[in-house]
Parts: sequence; structure tokens; C-alpha cells
Amino acid sequence: MTHPQPLERNLEQPPAPNEHGAGLRLLQPYLRRAHARSAKRWARAVEKCVTIDHLRQVMEKRVPPIVREYYRGGADNEITLRDNVEAFQRERFKPRSAVQLDAVEMRTEILGHPIALPVIAAPIGSPRMLWPRGEAGAAKAVGEAGTICTLSTLTGTDLEEVRTASPGPCWYQLYLVGGKEVAARGIERAKNAGYSALVLTIDTAVAGNRARHEWLGASQAINGTPFQKLKFGPQMIPHLSWLQSFYADGGMMQFRNVILNDGQPMPYADVGAQLRTSVVTWEHLPWIREIWGTDKPILVKGVQCVEDARLAAEHGVDGIIISNHGGRQMDRVYPTLYILKDVAAELKDSAMTILLDGGIRSGGDVVIALAHGADAVLAGRAYVYGLGAGGEAGVRKAFAILKKEIEDTLRLLGCASIHDLNAKEHLLPYPFQ
Ligand SMILES: Cc1cc2nc3c(=O)[nH]c(=O)nc-3n(C[C@H](O)[C@H](O)[C@H](O)COP(=O)(O)O)c2cc1C
Repeated sequence: MTHPQPLERNLEQPPAPNEHGAGLRLLQPYLRRAHARSAKRWARAVEKCVTIDHLRQVMEKRVPPIVREYYRGGADNEITLRDNVEAFQRERFKPRSAVQLDAVEMRTEILGHPIALPVIAAPIGSPRMLWPRGEAGAAKAVGEAGTICTLSTLTGTDLEEVRTASPGPCWYQLYLVGGKEVAARGIERAKNAGYSALVLTIDTAVAGNRARHEWLGASQAINGTPFQKLKFGPQMIPHLSWLQSFYADGGMMQFRNVILNDGQPMPYADVGAQLRTSVVTWEHLPWIREIWGTDKPILVKGVQCVEDARLAAEHGVDGIIISNHGGRQMDRVYPTLYILKDVAAELKDSAMTILLDGGIRSGGDVVIALAHGADAVLAGRAYVYGLGAGGEAGVRKAFAILKKEIEDTLRLLGCASIHDLNAKEHLLPYPFQ
């Protein structure tokens, strides 16, 4: 089975013929000019941002609520979404003052990849809904920041194009959507395109119940009749520049990295049913390893207890990502920072690489995670807010903000290197009840 060739095009070239009806094709020159103009405007707004939260606010101005909610939201009552962030907010630093540091060290090496800062871009579904060919723009900015970009299976830009766009290393995140045969094709493609690690996500036995997104009408926005979709018209009016960019990019994306057995990309649809029929188990690991090969690492993402961390080690994976999917899967699970404390203690003498994600919104959060034993962290929303705010420029800004905040935190702590961080020396207990 072959897959369609990557689309060799960018926004200066017309979208592929199947992506627009005749009417929209006629509007293409106008839409592309409008996108180029608004991109400059949003880049200026992004430049003023000082924190990741400012990027979120700019994204909320640009993107209509039904789209924004997909990226912001969490499962059920969003308790875990909130707890992930609050767990970091409840940590307190212990600075050592009157220390002058000529330089601080934040470079590290993760599974053979030297990176300029201990933050990796987490896999995020459908970045192309936020910005034209957002996967490629994000990968370019992340690579230029000197770190690793992880591409989700559920993305709208060909994985080959994303790999080429990044000057840095790229990892590929695997779901088994479409079944084993479909997934095997995805693994082969990622291997041939030069992805240097495979990230197997294990926390999606069903898709999380993103109640608020559904309440706002997510299913109708995706699968509704044209008449049902009309009701979203009014909310587009304050966000016309997003709408123009969306149609300049071809409109509703397809999952171009999930090539079904008929040779076509999976259409954009609710993936809940797909995830339910393609649950990953530990038994899949030898099969995945056989296709991926033994020379490049495999990580398991979605470890939430010491028992699963041990199982991952027994199954020979090279790294774990302690993750609750950013609070988007099971609600009311422990924030990842607390799981990290247990897992790091359990695995401290093993060669396993320990990464964490969930709740990283500042460089201070990154420093705290490292002090508690993470080798590095993944950030999801932190850079996706940047993408939604200003595309590639926004992702660049997100990483610049995190980098500056890590450096400032280390200097204020009086700690010369991320490799010297530890909770006993650099953190204090939370002082309030
Ligand atoms: C909008 C969105 C889409 C996501 N899509 C995926 C995905 O396709 N695959 C995956 O393994 N994780 C996915 N995640 C989870 C992230 O990889 C990561 O675990 C999470 O964002 C970390 O939490 P944070 O956003 O608080 O940093 C997604 C997260 C968000 C916010």
C-alpha cells in the first residue's frame, strides 16, 4: 500500500484541487493576501507578550470560541487540568542570594539528542486548525529554539513536510487509530522520514469527555449539516482573520498521517470511536519495536503510577513521559508533578529517561519539575497558545519566554546549572494551608 505523496506546496501556491469548492478556489488570491496581512499584525501582538498567559490571551482574540475550546479545555469538570497547574503554583523556591553567575547551563541531552533547553514540544492534535499548516511552522520554530518537536498522529500536514521544516530533531507520537496495518504504515513513514524517537501514547482507551467543548457544539461544527454549521457564523465575526487563514489553507483538514486501507487520509472526524477500537496494550510493544527497529528509542507517554513505570522498564522502553494528557483524558487523577516525585524515587538507579508533562506554563515550572527528578519536560498548551496567537512567530515567542524564565529562575536561585537542581536544596514546603 502506498500513501499519497506529500503535498509540495505552501501558502504561496494554490491548495490542492480537492481542498476547495470552485467558489472558494476563486477567492484564493484574496484569502492568501488577507492571511499574509493578518499574520504580520498578529506577529506584532505576539512580540509584546511577556508571559505564556499573554500568548493565551492573544490566541483568544484571534481564534473563535469553538476552536479555542479544543486547545484550552480538559475532561469532565477539568479538575485535573486545574490541578496540574496548581501543583506547580504550590511549590516554593529557596533562593541563595549574593551569588554572581557568569553563565547558567540549561543545555542537556535526552536519549542522544543534545537540546538547548530542557523543554520538548508535546504532541498536539490538529495544529493546522489554529494556523495554516501549523504543524510545519511549529516544528520550524521549535527546531530553531534548539529542541525536539513531537508530531502527533492526528495532524493535518504530511509528516515528511514537518520533518523537513525543522532544523532540529523530531519525534513521532503514535496512536493505533485505523488499526495495526494503518499504524504500521505510519511507523514506517516516520522512520523513513527521519523521526528519531517514537512516542507511544497509552492513556486513550477512550477519548476524554471534553464536556465544555461538546456543550459549545463541537460535534455539529465537525460533522453537522451545512445548516447546523451556520449557527457558528456569528461567533466568526470578531475572528474574521482566523476564518480567512483557515480557508486560505484549504478549510477543514484531513488526518494526513493516518492513511486508511483505501489509500486515502482519514477525514477529520470525531476520533473517539477510533480510539476505543484501537486501544494500546503492553503486548503491542514487541510488534511496534519490530517495525520501528532497535536503533532508535521508544518512549511511553501517559504513565501515571509507579506500577506502570516499572512495567515500561520491564518492556524495554527507553523513556517514560509522566502525563495525564494535560487533563484531557481521565479527570480527578493526580497532577503529574506528584506522580513524578514517586516515580523519580523508584527509578533513580535505572537508566530510564524520565520526562513529565502537564501544567508547564513558565520557566519556573520547568525548574521545579527538574528539581523533583525529571530529565526534561514537555510543554503542550504553552507553545500551542503561541501557535494560535501568531503561528510560527508565536511558537518562537513561547520558547523564548520559557528560556528566559528558566535562565532568570536559575540566576535568582543562585544555581549555575539545571544539572545541579534538587528539591532539598532549591525548594521549600508550601507555607499555607
Ligand atoms: C489540544 C491538545 C491536543 C492534544 N493532542 C494530543 C495527541 O494527539 N497525542 C498525544 O499523545 N497527546 C496529545 N495531547 C496531550 C499533550 O501531548 C500533553 O500531554 C499535554 O498538552 C500536556 O499538558 P499541558 O498542555 O498542560 O502542557 C494534546 C493536548 C492538547 C492540549
